[in-house]
Amino acid sequence: MATAALERRPEAPVDVSSNDLYVEDRWREPFARMRAEMPLSWRAESPYGAYWSAVTHDLVTAIELDHQTWSSELGNITIQDGVAGHEFPNFIAMDPPRHTEQRRVVSPAFNPSGMVRLTEQVRARTATLLDELPRGETFDWVEQVSIPLTMGMLCILFDMPFEERHDIKTWSDMASNVSPDTQSEEYYQRFMGEMGRMLARFDQLMEERRALPASDDLLSRMVHSEAMGHLTPIERIANLALLIVGGNDTTRNSMSGLVEAFARFPGELDRLHGDASLIPNAAQEIVRWQSPVTHMRRTATRDTELAGQKIAAGEKIVMWYISANRDEKVFADADRFDVGRANARRHVGFGHGIHRCVGARLAEVQLATLIEEWVARGWRVVPQGEPTRLASPFLHGFTAMPVRIESRG
Ligand code: HEM
Repeated sequence: MATAALERRPEAPVDVSSNDLYVEDRWREPFARMRAEMPLSWRAESPYGAYWSAVTHDLVTAIELDHQTWSSELGNITIQDGVAGHEFPNFIAMDPPRHTEQRRVVSPAFNPSGMVRLTEQVRARTATLLDELPRGETFDWVEQVSIPLTMGMLCILFDMPFEERHDIKTWSDMASNVSPDTQSEEYYQRFMGEMGRMLARFDQLMEERRALPASDDLLSRMVHSEAMGHLTPIERIANLALLIVGGNDTTRNSMSGLVEAFARFPGELDRLHGDASLIPNAAQEIVRWQSPVTHMRRTATRDTELAGQKIAAGEKIVMWYISANRDEKVFADADRFDVGRANARRHVGFGHGIHRCVGARLAEVQLATLIEEWVARGWRVVPQGEPTRLASPFLHGFTAMPVRIESRG
């Protein structure tokens, strides 16, 4: 690596991997500054080691589209490196051709036809859950709405009894934990213990599917396919964890984000009452506005140049979706939650390119359903004090959100 290149690297003014920024909701200003002054910057020191940050919409999409240069397989897919010697091989962490083969198995389960069965069940579960919420008293929206609705959706997806949702939450929380603590051997052993329990349960479900004719159901597709029918135990664990994490915290935090968005911009709820056809766009806009996946990371496969910087093979580059989704060159008045935003669909909250979220359609259906049922009930969901925000540079969300339901009046 040339020293001259190293000297030229613009050092990011803030370590945007710091939990404090997200816990204290202070991330907007540093990212805005970086977008304006250094769209691509270098941070030599952080709890996760050195990393590049790409913070604008055009840079993030350019990286996503060049998977030959920016690998998902070489390093980890988050800023946190994996535990040395312990691989976790799922298809989000693969490059073509393996990525293509495995993704192809799973993705038809989320096609419009596959979505019909899921949509009906999502509607029924959402309506029941909302009807059972306490009225006139304070409760935790995360605990009583966002978590059970997303767990319920995963139970529907895997055809599991709703009673098993707590296990899904445990497995998902562990698998999505991005923090330096996860680097210890002790954590890894505990993690793999839980993953073993998850595998035992899913192997049971998959054996049931294997005994039946192939269908469009997700697990059935997996066991009956060439590419995924004979995965090793660690590959099965990694891919199941991917689906559980993919579908869990992300949708959960979008649902909690809705409360904050409508509370800060109450006129947007009124707009939906006036024009329900805006609801699908509102589901897009909340993914942009909340950006529940803060970042994904790639690793350079070769020495290369990007945005005037020399990047060496093996270096990690973090694509900050949370910043690209606030890029004022693409989204006018980007901090505003605007249910009628004409280009809300251009958000990169689901990523972009070959790894773009496979469950995006399901997430959108879930979010639109929640909004529809909320509007139909004529509610305002009023925060009762500050929410507690998640301490993570990877998932942007909430651990608690006290609210009270009131009528729009
Ligand atoms: C990939 C976000 C819901 C399953 C991804 C990626 C992001 C993302 C950012 C990586 C994209 C990239 O690297 O370019 C979200 C958000 C969701 C959501 C914000 C909800 C609002 C879901 C759901 C599922 C799911 C409901 C399934 C149950 C996956 C899978 C991948 C993925 C399997 C890997 C795709 C690949 O590597 O080809 N998601 N996701 N996600 N997501 Fe989601």
